[in-house]
Amino acid sequence: MPRIAVIPGDGIGLEVIREAVRVLEVVEARFAPGCELVHWDLGADRYLRDGITITDEEFASLADEHDAILLGALGDPRVPGNQHARDILLGLRFKLDLYVNYRPAVLFDPELSPLRDPGDIRLDVFRENTEGVYVNLGGTFKAGTRSEIAIQEDLNTWAGVERICRAAFEHAVTRGRSRVTLVDKANAMPAAGKLWRRVFGEVAGEFPSIETDAMYVDAMAMDLVRRPNRYEVIVTGNLFGDILSDLAAELVGGLGTAASANLHPGRHALFEPVHGSAPDIAGQGLANPMGAIASVVLMLEYLGHDDAARAVDDALHAAVDSGVRTADMGGSADTEEVGTWIAARISDASA
Ligand code: NAD
Ligand code: IPM
Ligand code: MN
Repeated sequence: MPRIAVIPGDGIGLEVIREAVRVLEVVEARFAPGCELVHWDLGADRYLRDGITITDEEFASLADEHDAILLGALGDPRVPGNQHARDILLGLRFKLDLYVNYRPAVLFDPELSPLRDPGDIRLDVFRENTEGVYVNLGGTFKAGTRSEIAIQEDLNTWAGVERICRAAFEHAVTRGRSRVTLVDKANAMPAAGKLWRRVFGEVAGEFPSIETDAMYVDAMAMDLVRRPNRYEVIVTGNLFGDILSDLAAELVGGLGTAASANLHPGRHALFEPVHGSAPDIAGQGLANPMGAIASVVLMLEYLGHDDAARAVDDALHAAVDSGVRTADMGGSADTEEVGTWIAARISDASA
């Protein structure tokens, strides 16, 4: 019986997770995977109310007493600096050692892309999720003065690079992809670049059937717009992966449609849409729930419920094809209408 922790979080996280849960409840009824949903009150409201972001006991429970975590988004303008978002989101990634951030971008329909001639885009971004500039090593000196110094270190370890490269190559093999591309900035950041290129090459040696290449991140950003269908699997560091996954999402239907899986394979898994809490549209029914629902697809696959995952994925595609879309995709449906339509479609299809 999988036990799933549901953390809606802040802003549109609450709205999109409501729809993801609606879908999960239909899946539960139709495919009987016996999922138990445990609702967690973590986010800005709780922090503003109790002064607590997340406790060690809560980390332990999320890690040990749940099979997966489904998260909306964290970030709220009422919390300057968003300490709670760092504690909860980055806290979960770091403390559960979720070193793989898998962010697929697939173009279902060329009409969804802002590109004139997008071709067949199927891009899997493997973002290192526990190192890089996100470790917050460094500090500030003479803060608040005109002599202020800010140091933000970029941490890369052999083991960290090795395991994300291995995850990317294993994915390529199991999913029948033919090439893995390393993305870095080895020309300007040679210490990190040397490590990444050496380790990438070593791991690549174990996967002779997979082609490899390497690109600087600036050229990759350009080429993703110019000819995205040239790329299959991208492996990269934390910051570059963050940036490229927003770009990739926009190429295939928009940030509101993009899903992600944060994984420590064999141990822990957290699923979330790639987008944030979008305070600019929160509370208006404008949020696209498709990224959250696509994250449910990734979660169902991870939990071994392939039939349920396929049913949700098919219903998602059907909604797009039938024009049941929120405003960001050029439609007129609101968040709840999209979620309700997809849930009903799953019920009908499996009836
Ligand atoms: P954002 O992703 O929240 O929004 C960027 C733009 O995309 C906005 O114009 C927003 O309206 C639009 N957008 C995002 N998701 C959408 C959806 N589902 N449907 C329709 N439009 C959508 O990024 P931001 O504005 O830079 O960040 C807002 C807050 O969210 C910040 O506090 C940030 O730190 C946080 N954030 C959290 C996560 C997360 O929890 N995983 C991810 C990204 C940003
Ligand atoms: C994401 C977000 C986070 C990140 C922020 C909120 C720290 O942008 O999940 O992509 O940079 O990883
Ligand atoms: Mn991001």
